[in-house]
Amino acid sequence: MEPYRIKVVEPIPVTTREQREEALKRVNYNLFDLRAEEVTIDLLTDSGTGALSAAQLAAGMAGDESYSGSRSFYRFHETVTELTGYAHVLPTHQGRAAERVLFSSLLKPGSIVLANTHFDTTRANVELNNCEARDLPCPEAKNLDSVEPFKGNIDLNELHRQLTGPDADRISVVVMTITNNGGGGQPVSMGNLKQTAALCRQYGVPLFLDAARFAENAWLVTRHEEGYRDRTPRQVAEEAFRLADGCMMSAKKDGIVHIGGFIGMNDPELAQRCELLLIATEGFATYGGLAGRDLDMMAQGLSEVTEPAYLAERADIAAHLAHRVRSAGVDIVEPPGLHALYLNAGRLLPHLPPHHYPGHALACRMYLEGGIRSAELGSLYLGEEDEDGNPIKSAPYELVRLALPRRVYTRSHYDHIGETLAKIAKQADTVHGFRITDQSPILRHFRATLEPV
Ligand code: F0G
Repeated sequence: MEPYRIKVVEPIPVTTREQREEALKRVNYNLFDLRAEEVTIDLLTDSGTGALSAAQLAAGMAGDESYSGSRSFYRFHETVTELTGYAHVLPTHQGRAAERVLFSSLLKPGSIVLANTHFDTTRANVELNNCEARDLPCPEAKNLDSVEPFKGNIDLNELHRQLTGPDADRISVVVMTITNNGGGGQPVSMGNLKQTAALCRQYGVPLFLDAARFAENAWLVTRHEEGYRDRTPRQVAEEAFRLADGCMMSAKKDGIVHIGGFIGMNDPELAQRCELLLIATEGFATYGGLAGRDLDMMAQGLSEVTEPAYLAERADIAAHLAHRVRSAGVDIVEPPGLHALYLNAGRLLPHLPPHHYPGHALACRMYLEGGIRSAELGSLYLGEEDEDGNPIKSAPYELVRLALPRRVYTRSHYDHIGETLAKIAKQADTVHGFRITDQSPILRHFRATLEPV
């Protein structure tokens, strides 16, 4: 059961099918353009959408808004230093700001960044520095149905090949994303992280964690990895941070705050370069674009997020939803992680070719039937067509991500999602596809307009 009770509530919009049909037409079938008040259950992201605890709110009220050297900064700094062990910690307003400041200070044009999988803003911040992002997911990640517990791992053979290959001189950093959001929210084992750290040390390349979901990764390690079953998630997290040379953090996930992030690192020269850029572009080094209250709430959230009862319930609710979804006849990327379920829309809707966007079609139908908003991760996101709409490139899988906000929805909300999917799956052959009517040259899924086909 939930290890908390509800003290403050917010009504959620209840709409009719007709209203939702109208809304979909109005936004040209782009779910990003819906007004939040048209959405009953919002599973677009688990980022910045969590519920604050009473202790976090209280910490925020006690925030110190001094421009420099605030009490809030010192509390935040102490919490992050204890958790990560890094010698230098800089606050940023969110994860992508940490990425920009770190990469701009660390990379040179032409550098290569290796990762288990780059998140899309991480890749964008590498490419904006005229550098190259290479993903090295482990082979098990390719089989969506396999229940291997650590499908977020990096491919160690490939990592070794890259670190000793012809481009080795250009490799500036290895990033390990825990959990691997771009790879189905799958965790990374401590064994894999240790071997990665050893390879990085051997070849003199720094290792950074993209630690947005470090606590969820640690929880899955305590469940599934030999040698870690009697450890607490906090102990696992502390060890993981100490295996790397630094981290980038979006605290909007496992900081359980609405805004916030940080960079941690041990290299003093790199820290100095980051600090100067931070001051010029984010804010002074003791607030990094945040209010004092944000720093206090982040410090409190970072302490709450590794509580075993909280993580156990989060895993349980994800497993509950996974069970409902499978029983509805919809396959997911197995095994279910903690922050999201990824529905296999391609398999549910075999009558729709990739360039009719089965993932998007399922996401739109979920909104129409149940007022549920989700995100397509398929050929609308990764594909490409010529001017006549003929496919040039399609995504490897047609998925829909149901992201689970922290401490927000109850089991009856999740049951509603299961029921909605069951209804859709029974008449899956009636789900129609889409064609793009307008799109932007990059990140098209955010701004594209579509029409049914
Ligand atoms: N790294 C990972 C693994 C992420 O999932 C995200 C954000 C970021 C970095 C960037 O952090 O949003 O604070 O700037 N992921 C969100 C999502 C947006 O929906 O998965 P940010």
